[in-house]
Amino acid sequence: MSRLINPRALVQLLRAGDLRARWRATQDGQAALRLQVVAAALGTGVLDALARAPAGTAELARRTGATDTDLLEAFLRVTAAVGLVAGDGDRWRLDRAGRAVVGDDLVRASYEGFGGFHTDLYRGLRPVLAGEWRRRDLAEQGEVIARMAAGFDAFVHDLLVRTVTRRPPRRVLDVGCGAGLQLAGVLEAAPGATGVGVDVDAGAAALARRTLRERGLAGRASVEEVDVRTALGGEPGGALAEPFDLALLANVVYYLPPPERVPLLRAVAGLLTPGGTLLVVTTAAVPQLFSRHLDLLLRAQEGDLQLPDAGSLVRQLTEAGLHPEQPRTLVPGAPLIAVAATR
Ligand SMILES: C[S@@+](CC[C@H](N)C(=O)[O-])C[C@H]1O[C@@H](n2cnc3c(N)ncnc32)[C@H](O)[C@@H]1O
Repeated sequence: MSRLINPRALVQLLRAGDLRARWRATQDGQAALRLQVVAAALGTGVLDALARAPAGTAELARRTGATDTDLLEAFLRVTAAVGLVAGDGDRWRLDRAGRAVVGDDLVRASYEGFGGFHTDLYRGLRPVLAGEWRRRDLAEQGEVIARMAAGFDAFVHDLLVRTVTRRPPRRVLDVGCGAGLQLAGVLEAAPGATGVGVDVDAGAAALARRTLRERGLAGRASVEEVDVRTALGGEPGGALAEPFDLALLANVVYYLPPPERVPLLRAVAGLLTPGGTLLVVTTAAVPQLFSRHLDLLLRAQEGDLQLPDAGSLVRQLTEAGLHPEQPRTLVPGAPLIAVAATR
């Protein structure tokens, strides 16, 4: 095959339209294809089946329940073209990118989430705009949401360590604890503390219990599977009966409709010891792609959800009877902010 560029074809291409837009459309298309191929390789079970052991197409069909082996082999050739697997019909094995997806849960969760409900938002936007239905992602995708949020943990971790070093807590509450990474991080940084995680999602609560177990912290913390609004609706009992020195609301506040935020913040403030701290971490509403996307995703849900901006969060914390500090940006150039507020 000749590698020479045909100059006439190139001139035609340049003259025919906006070259930059054409180039970008192709690149975006390729990226979208790759995202969906990886998501499908996870969804069909192909990557997990190959993680167990290399296999030929027929054996892979048996492992994944596929009945059309020709189609499966065509799909495997696609996965090979994006570097997930290598080999041929006699023996497929995971390639480097495939090993990274099955070996790192944050990579897996990102492909599941972005290849799934995050982009399904746009494919299914028309009926949402027409008022025909609303999404229920928190109820249906709770576990993936909690696993994807782990991507923020590294940025929140430093702040938490600084907070507990300044004023070591005895009891810590993590509202919407997700996979429990922050709760575990706080307990490791404050060896004298005990903790309670609360999460409404059964899958997330199970992940949090596993995190605490795997990090040897199960004896110092419990995880309650409950909607925090229910748990704090009356007189808090059980694990929430004793006051807390530090409460964390990380990437949770936007799952409450705005009118419910001050009552929740007030209820959490009521659980704090005098001088205790509530730390709120959230993606803020700013003109940046991920922020605008998450805000739309929230607005497309059942309930009146939306991202907060930094100013309204500070006002809500004040209204809840707390003394908030200035919001801090956790990642330069990204919309993740933290606001510490004391009782
Ligand atoms: C984006 S995840 C964040 C998880 C964790 N805090 C983190 O930052 O990694 C939001 C979590 O809040 C939980 N959540 C949302 N609304 C809740 C509510 N009303 N009560 C308890 N948990 C809630 C979700 O189930 C989910 O696990």
